[in-house]
Amino acid sequence: LTVAVLISGAGSNLRALLEAANEPDYPARIVVVGADREAEGLAHAEAFGIPWFFVPYAEYPNREEWGDALRDQLAAWQPDLIVLSGLMRLLPASVLEPWAPRIINTHPAYLPEFPGAHGVRDALAAGATQTGASVIVVDAGVDTGPILAQERIAVLAGDDEASLHERIKPVERRLLIDVVRRIATGEIDLSAP
Ligand code: GRF
Repeated sequence: LTVAVLISGAGSNLRALLEAANEPDYPARIVVVGADREAEGLAHAEAFGIPWFFVPYAEYPNREEWGDALRDQLAAWQPDLIVLSGLMRLLPASVLEPWAPRIINTHPAYLPEFPGAHGVRDALAAGATQTGASVIVVDAGVDTGPILAQERIAVLAGDDEASLHERIKPVERRLLIDVVRRIATGEIDLSAP
């Protein structure tokens, strides 16, 4: 199974996926890493000798034209699966249509709780005593697609956004690595999750 990973930031989840895919018995291969900006996480692709690109959102007049450029980059690699791992952009239809439903996303909350760009902050603001990590299929909504895997994580007294997010990320990584493996083996059938 060939995989393209899209990021916007540090790419710690990407790094974990690169390490997992580096194992000879892992059934998926990351063929390219893309970003919507010159993301620090692209250095992880470089370190693993994986091609990378970025399509700077700020240089396009609108989301649709940015999406067309992103789609053209991805089309060159023909990935079987697209993994959003910290991509902080909603994908326009021009990117969703060619690959849906073979696009998955990691989210640092127990969806459908706390969707959107600030799931960790929102859980804290709501005074939640527990939150979670989720891996979902990307659809046209914001974190509304079918849930492929999720796990509860306790919110501890004294947690701030950073400490809680750092406790969530390792769970996200474990779930993501396992979901990609199960998609590659056919155990998860994305056309009918
Ligand atoms: C992850 O928690 C991801 O779910 C969220 O942003 C974070 C990205 O972290 N959308 P990193 O870039 O993988 O370190």
